[in-house]
Amino acid sequence: LPTHYTLSNGAEIPTVALGVWQAGKGEVGAAVKTALAAGYRHIDGAYRYNNEAEVGLAIKESGIPREDIWLTSKLWNTYHAPEDIEPVLDESLASLGTDYLDLYLIHWPVATNKDGSLNMELTENPYPTWQKLEEMVEKGKVRNIGVSNFNIRRLQNLTANPLKIKPVINQVELSFWNPQPELLKWSKENNILLEAYSPLGSTGRVGASLSVPEVKEIAAELGITPAQVIISWSVQRGTVVLPKSVTPARVVENLHITKLPQASFDKLEKAAVSHKPERGLDPSKDWGVDIFE
Ligand code: A2P
Repeated sequence: LPTHYTLSNGAEIPTVALGVWQAGKGEVGAAVKTALAAGYRHIDGAYRYNNEAEVGLAIKESGIPREDIWLTSKLWNTYHAPEDIEPVLDESLASLGTDYLDLYLIHWPVATNKDGSLNMELTENPYPTWQKLEEMVEKGKVRNIGVSNFNIRRLQNLTANPLKIKPVINQVELSFWNPQPELLKWSKENNILLEAYSPLGSTGRVGASLSVPEVKEIAAELGITPAQVIISWSVQRGTVVLPKSVTPARVVENLHITKLPQASFDKLEKAAVSHKPERGLDPSKDWGVDIFE
């Protein structure tokens, strides 16, 4: 399986990242260090995860040169107004102890005002937000820009504008429970790389994911763990995968992917796409938006 994908602009992104959502203060730094020592070169974080300073310190203490690591952060909903973007990006950069990000994503297709109320105009038309992100690329603070949690309609809306830089990545929930085959197909056709968050089903459903009969069968056949089957399947589908773990042995385990025999891959893909999709956590409802609309 590939260790990297080449983006439409030539950038090389490692296929497996350590995801640090829900990795708490006091544990995330150790997880990052374990990951970098094990060979990870991709850390997926966000301003909102409230752990960027600890991530940044761990990177520095790892001794691995900054330029060898793909570092992602995300713009939180409250900062979509163009004048708010550079200051909050600067905050992320300062916490992470770096002067550039490899990737900056619009975290959700939802813009909120400072009081938490919905900013419908910027939610429905994120072009002003995007233009500021393009400017951040021009300034060298960010190397690549993309989105997260965008459906096809929202991406079409955004890309209908005269963009200078097209979104190269869309990070979405992709798991056995919610494999999103239409979005995957459309994204490949449109040269947008998908990144899979909650690939193991996140906290609530990791046990269920690892007990899926097809997953267990393939794991036994190949002599690998159920988590490795799912992570390998994710890469074999052509997506970046962002398993989260703060357990050292699992962090190491999750990096070792193996190409599944075509018949095994097909069996798992069929099982994933043939049940009713079940979404994980969807906070956007609380913000007054249905992000799937
Ligand atoms: P922990 O962080 O305590 O090791 P997802 O990536 O889908 O969000 O899933 C994250 C959850 O899966 C966390 O609860 C994490 O636990 C657990 N997890 C991560 N890797 C593995 C693994 N290889 N085997 C079992 N559980 C795992």
